[in-house]
Amino acid sequence: MRVTKQKLHQLIRTKLSLAGLSPSHADVVADVLVHADVRGVHSHGAMRVEYYAERIAKGGTNVNPQFTFEKTGPCSAVFDGDNGAGHVAAKQAMEHAVNMAKENGIAIVGVRRIGHSGSLSYYVQQAAREGLIGISVCQSDPMVVPFGGAEAYYGTNPIAFAAPGEGSALITFDMATTVQAWGKILHARSKHEAIPDTWAVDEHGVRTNDPFKVHALLPIAGPKGYGLMMMVDILSGVLLGLPFGNRVSSMYHDLTEGRNLGQLHIVLDPSFFTDLETFRRNISQTMQDLNGIKPAPGFEQVLYPGQNYDRIEQENEANGIEIVDEIYDYLTSDVIHHHKYDHKDPFAT
Ligand code: NAI
Repeated sequence: MRVTKQKLHQLIRTKLSLAGLSPSHADVVADVLVHADVRGVHSHGAMRVEYYAERIAKGGTNVNPQFTFEKTGPCSAVFDGDNGAGHVAAKQAMEHAVNMAKENGIAIVGVRRIGHSGSLSYYVQQAAREGLIGISVCQSDPMVVPFGGAEAYYGTNPIAFAAPGEGSALITFDMATTVQAWGKILHARSKHEAIPDTWAVDEHGVRTNDPFKVHALLPIAGPKGYGLMMMVDILSGVLLGLPFGNRVSSMYHDLTEGRNLGQLHIVLDPSFFTDLETFRRNISQTMQDLNGIKPAPGFEQVLYPGQNYDRIEQENEANGIEIVDEIYDYLTSDVIHHHKYDHKDPFAT
């Protein structure tokens, strides 16, 4: 089913409001999810609404959170999300970080006690659209085997970066520190597609092609990805006084409780380091340089990081977004589940 961005936004907003989220918060969550779907990052789009709606209906997302923002130094601050929708807290915290970075050149804002905040590119692009560099990292459910381990310890702990080029050009890099995000496995399940055996292991720790047999995910680049996910957990968990490592709450463990997750935004104003126009010109030059690199056999063109999704975004803006039929049917129904995700084994089918 192909739908316009506006239609998808309205369907998600309506469903989340029906589950009990305030219209203004539902609006922001819908914004972040549509941002993911329009870019082709379906793992973090409308597919998540069914689970979010159940968590909202069961009280595990605070629908009336008391957000607080405390500056702890000229360039540092802590935003407390009171376990409301993570998307809303992360967006507001980034707005603060943008203002602080414009004043002082750099801002580091910790976002404490939040729910899942979706695709991090949304937040770093907020900064880049203001002419700033945005970096964001966050915790996620422990479901990744550390290098050499047979049990999960860290989450898929993503890292996102965006910087402004000339005009409205942005370069956006956004990745899970696992070979694939968990949502990509869910997406493969929803489409009944096999996965490459480099993504995940089964219950015996053996690599698998079957998305339904996945028991834990693999870090990118062995010990290097493992090190990056540790860094993310320290910056967005340990640093903010939150549960860390395998103490981080699981997505489906208890949908009546807040998740207490952490996220860290880092924003830099390039004009405090170099001439802004030169910076923006050189970001655009970087994009052009990368596109001009001779492609290897089997590749048409070298894309700059994020360009694959920028292209999908342009196409989907023009032609609408392809949504899996089952998800569309759910969104257009009155159904709010109460027992589909609660206490579910995250790896169960
Ligand atoms: P991905 O593997 O699809 O892409 C990773 C990066 O590589 C992107 O910046 C992408 O543009 C770039 N890329 C891919 N193919 C390319 C090509 N051919 N040329 C140039 N660049 C290319 O992303 P991944 O790791 O699956 O993450 C998806 C989303 O999941 C992200 O938005 C991330 O923030 C989100 N996520 C959120 C979590 C949370 O708890 N909130 C947890 C984990 C991931």
